[in-house]
Amino acid sequence: MPDNIPILRLKDLSVGYLDHPIVRAISLDVNRQSVWSLLGGNGAGKSTLLKSLFGMSKWFAGEIIFDGQHLEGLSPQQCMRAGVGIVPQGRCNFPAMTVRENLEMGAYTLPRSAKRDAMDRVLAMFPMLEEKLATLAGNLSGGQQQILETAMVLETDPKLLLLDEPSLGLSPKMQQDVFENVALLRDAGVTVIMAEQNVIGSLLVSDFALVLDLGTKLIDGPAKEVMANPKIRAAFLGGEPEPAAAGLEEVE
Ligand SMILES: Nc1ncnc2c1ncn2[C@@H]1O[C@H](COP(=O)(O)OP(=O)(O)OP(=O)(O)O)[C@@H](O)[C@H]1O
Ligand SMILES: [Mg+2]
Repeated sequence: MPDNIPILRLKDLSVGYLDHPIVRAISLDVNRQSVWSLLGGNGAGKSTLLKSLFGMSKWFAGEIIFDGQHLEGLSPQQCMRAGVGIVPQGRCNFPAMTVRENLEMGAYTLPRSAKRDAMDRVLAMFPMLEEKLATLAGNLSGGQQQILETAMVLETDPKLLLLDEPSLGLSPKMQQDVFENVALLRDAGVTVIMAEQNVIGSLLVSDFALVLDLGTKLIDGPAKEVMANPKIRAAFLGGEPEPAAAGLEEVE
């Protein structure tokens, strides 16, 4: 069962690029083994905020406390060592390499003794990859590539996994699979924050949600409350009916 000690605390955080912050004054407590949806329109700052938790956007003010350690100003490698992993938006890093070679790349930073275990662990989690070890990553479907990218990051055994638009460009069935995998990861003890455009699909698997508007916090809270919020329904769901009425399944 998730405990109530936040694994991540953001305090008045402002982050961006070059000389000005894009995402401003964000405070948030993320509990261990919870799933968060990070929502907002195009350019709201979702990717910028995720990247700031992995040393990939510029820190301007405030605090990022992860598992008792300050991450402000740290490099991606230092964030990875602290236990954070990120799967960036829409990417297959090494399409001309086989799935096995990609997984070897994912374990590249690990000590030799840990490489085999890391690969075995992710293959056990995603058996589909085992069947495709000799396939070129570029020949996998979009959903399979998404799983491969996630598996490569999971080889580093992150406690906090950041997913940037994991369902983007996938069929509805594959999107559902992605969200089911997120639930699996939570069950395996990982805390997940995912930026998503699929607002309903993402909220259904999430415990909590943060909605950004032009770089500032519009609302945060339990996913069910965010989904029921009339402002959110009007802004992001176009006044769509409740998910149950729309025939969508909740992911447990
Ligand atoms: N490398 C960069 N340098 C400068 N500005 C950037 C950079 N990347 C993004 N921005 C700007 O930051 C703002 C927020 O972008 P961001 O990519 O975080 O939004 P987003 O919510 O992830 O949008 P989307 O839904 O399109 O992925 C945008 O105005 C964008 O132009
Ligand atoms: Mg983005």
